[in-house]
Amino acid sequence: MKHIKLDIEADGIAVLTLDNADESMNLVSPEFISEFAEAIEMIAADDAIKGTIVTSAKPAFMAGADLKFLGAAFDKGMTVKDALAFRQAPSDMHRRMETCGKPFVAAINGLALGGGCELVLSCHYRVIVDDPKAVVGLPEVNVGLLPGSGGTQRLPRMVGVERALSMLLGGESVPPAEALARGIVDEVVPAADLLEAARRWLRGNPDPLREWDRKGYKPPEALGLLNLKLAQHFTMAGPAASAKTLHNYPAPIAIVSSVFEGIQLPFDAGLRIEGKHFARLLSGPVARNIIRTTFLNKGKADRLSRRPAGIPKSPVKTLGVLGAGMMGAGIAHVAAAGGIDVILLDATMEQAEKGKAYSASLLSRDVERKRRTQAQADAVLARISPTVDYADMAGVDLVIEAVFEDTAIKADVTARAAAVIPAATPFASNTSTLPISGLAEAFERPADFIGLHFFSPVDRMPLVEVILGKKTSEATLARALDFVGQIRKTPIVVNDSRGFYTSRVFQTFIHEGMALLQEGVAPALIENAAKQAGMPVGPLAVTDEVTIELPMRIAKQAEAEMGTAYKLPVSYDVMRRMLDEFRRPGRKGGGGFYDYPEGGRKHLWTGLKDAFPAAAEQPDVEEVKKRILYIQALETARCLEEGVLADPVDGDLGSVLGWGFPTYAGGTISLIDTVGLPEFVAECDSLAQRFGARFLPSDWLRQKAAAGSGFYS
Ligand code: NAI
Repeated sequence: MKHIKLDIEADGIAVLTLDNADESMNLVSPEFISEFAEAIEMIAADDAIKGTIVTSAKPAFMAGADLKFLGAAFDKGMTVKDALAFRQAPSDMHRRMETCGKPFVAAINGLALGGGCELVLSCHYRVIVDDPKAVVGLPEVNVGLLPGSGGTQRLPRMVGVERALSMLLGGESVPPAEALARGIVDEVVPAADLLEAARRWLRGNPDPLREWDRKGYKPPEALGLLNLKLAQHFTMAGPAASAKTLHNYPAPIAIVSSVFEGIQLPFDAGLRIEGKHFARLLSGPVARNIIRTTFLNKGKADRLSRRPAGIPKSPVKTLGVLGAGMMGAGIAHVAAAGGIDVILLDATMEQAEKGKAYSASLLSRDVERKRRTQAQADAVLARISPTVDYADMAGVDLVIEAVFEDTAIKADVTARAAAVIPAATPFASNTSTLPISGLAEAFERPADFIGLHFFSPVDRMPLVEVILGKKTSEATLARALDFVGQIRKTPIVVNDSRGFYTSRVFQTFIHEGMALLQEGVAPALIENAAKQAGMPVGPLAVTDEVTIELPMRIAKQAEAEMGTAYKLPVSYDVMRRMLDEFRRPGRKGGGGFYDYPEGGRKHLWTGLKDAFPAAAEQPDVEEVKKRILYIQALETARCLEEGVLADPVDGDLGSVLGWGFPTYAGGTISLIDTVGLPEFVAECDSLAQRFGARFLPSDWLRQKAAAGSGFYS
C-alpha cells in the first residue's frame, strides 16, 4: 500500500498509519479509500488482530477530500449520479470499519478536518493529542457542501442534535479541550502518551458495536417534531440558516434537513438521506462555483500557474517602495512580513517614518492578538528602512511606485529611481487608473516595466492584479509573479486597458447603483438588493468610501483623453449633483449618500429623498439584484472579448478576491455559466430594452451563446 502502513504488534494490536506518499497532507482520495478499505478487510479477516489504532505519520492527522479530483468532473458537468458515486466509497468504507466486528481507535496526532474528521468519528474511540493545533471540525459548509461520509449522522448521535447542528452550520474547528467538552473526542493526552492511550483502550477489550447499532437504540431526537424542544430548535434552525445566507447558499438548509430527517431513521437510512442531500449540493452550481474559484483556481494562481516557463526563479531580497502613503506603507509591511528588506522612500523623512509607523501599528496589533511574538514583530519592523535618499535604492531587486496618482509626479520619481537602481531591476507601478504602457514611457527599459495593483488595506486584501504593458517582457512578468508568491498574495494577470480589469468592472457596480437612484428607486432598496445579491456592501455605501470624486475624476480623465469616443457613465448626473449641488463627496468629505454622525451609526442621508425623489412604483427586488450582478458580469465578458483578460479564471478570481463579488456565484464569469449563456444574453437584451444600451450583449457574446458554449465547459 502506498499511502497507508499496516503494522501488527505482538499483542494483536494493529497500527494503521496514514502517510500520503504524494503530498505533505493526508487527503481523502480514490487511491487512499481503496487502500484503506483493503486494510479493513485484512484486519477483519485476521483472527490474530484484536483491535486497530488509526494514526498518521504526518504532522496533521488528515485534512478533507482531495478537491483536485473534482476539477475535471466540474468541467464535464457533475451529475447527481457522479456526485452520489463520489461519496459512496468513503461512506461505505467508514461504515464497514464501524461494523466489521473489530474495535478501531483514532489516535489523533494533529488536525482532523472534513473527511479526516469523519474518519475519526467512525472509529469506536478517539484519543487526541494535547496540542492546540490539533483542531477537529467539519468545515464543509464553507465550500457549499455537507459532510457526506456520515458526518451529519454520527455527530448528532454522538453529541446531540443541538450541538451537532451548531458545529455543522458554523463549519467551525475546535481545539482538543473543546472537542472533549463537546463530546467529539473521548480523551486528551500528551503527545508522548498518544499511542499508549489508544493501546490501553484496546486492551480493555472494548465492544466494537456503536450505540446506534444496538438493538432498540432510539435517540431522544428520533421523535422528530413530537419532541417539543427539538421541534422548536428545528423550526428555528432552518429559517435562521436561510436568513444568514440570504437564500444564496443551499448547504445550511441541506444540513438541517439531513440531520432532521436522518435522526428519525435507522442509521443506514440516515446515511442514504445524507447521500441524497450531499449529491444535490455537489452536483449543483453553488458548491462547484465556490470550490472551483476559491480552491482549485485560487490554488493554481497561488502556485503561479501564469508564470512563463523556463525563466529562473528570482526572489526579491530587497524591495524599493516609492511613496510611503496608505498603499506604499501597506506594501512595505507585507513585503517585510514576507522576509524582504524594504527601502521605503517618500518626499520627506516625516512621511517615510509615518509609513514605517503604520507597519509598527499593524505589528503591535498582531502581538496583542498573539499572532506573532514581540521578537518576531521587531524583526519584521527592522526590515523597513525609511529614507528620502534615492541613493539607498542602489541595491534593490524590484521597485514598486506608489506616489500620488499623477502622471507627472510618477514620471519624476520613476526617472530618479531609474538613475540609481541596478540595470536589470524591474519597475512596477501600483497605479489604480493610469495606463501602464503610458507610465512605462518614463522608464528607459519599458520591457522591465509592469503594473502591480494592490488593494486596500494591503495587509488584508489577498489579490494583486498584475498588469502587462504593451512592451512588458515575459521575464518581467515571471519576476513580478515570483514577488507576489513571496508575499503570499494571489495574482491575476491582465492586459493594459483603462481601469485594467478590476477597477473597470467594479466601476459598473457603483455606476449602476447611482443609475438606480437617478431612476427613483428607493436608496434602501438599492443597498439591500445588492447585499441580498451577495455583495459585501451596497453600491452607494461603497461609493461613499472611495468618494464620489474618484469615479468622477476617472470619467473626466477618460473624456479628456478620448473625447467624443467616450460615453459618460450613466451615473454622471448623480455624481455631478452630489459634488456640485449638495457638496457631499463621501465619507471623508463629511458625508455622501450616507450621513456619519459622530459616535453613532451611519444612515442614509435624509436629504436623498428630496434630491432624488422615489418613483411611485418601485421595481421588484429580484430585478434590482439582477441589474447589479449582470452589469458586472457583462463588463467582465467584454474584458475577455477585448483581450484585457486572457482567461475566465482571472475574471472570477479578480472579482471574488478583489471586490467581494459573491462566492456562491463563483465570480463574474461563473455567474454567466451558472445562469446559462443563452439565458444570460436574453435577459441582458430585456434589461437593455428597459434600462439602456449598456446592457446590450456584444455580437461576440451572442455568437458564443448561439454556439452553445459556456466559458468553462
Ligand atoms: P497616498 O496619498 O496615501 O500616498 C502617496 C504618498 O506618495 C504620500 O506619502 C506622498 O507623500 C508620497 N509622494 C507624493 N509625491 C512624492 C514624490 N515626488 N516623491 C516621493 N513621495 C511622494 O496615496 P495612496 O492611496 O497610497 O495611493 C498611492 C498610489 O496607489 C496611487 O497611484 C493610487 O492610485 C494607487 N492605489 C490606491 C489605492 C487606494 O485604495 N488608495 C488602491 C490601489 C492603488
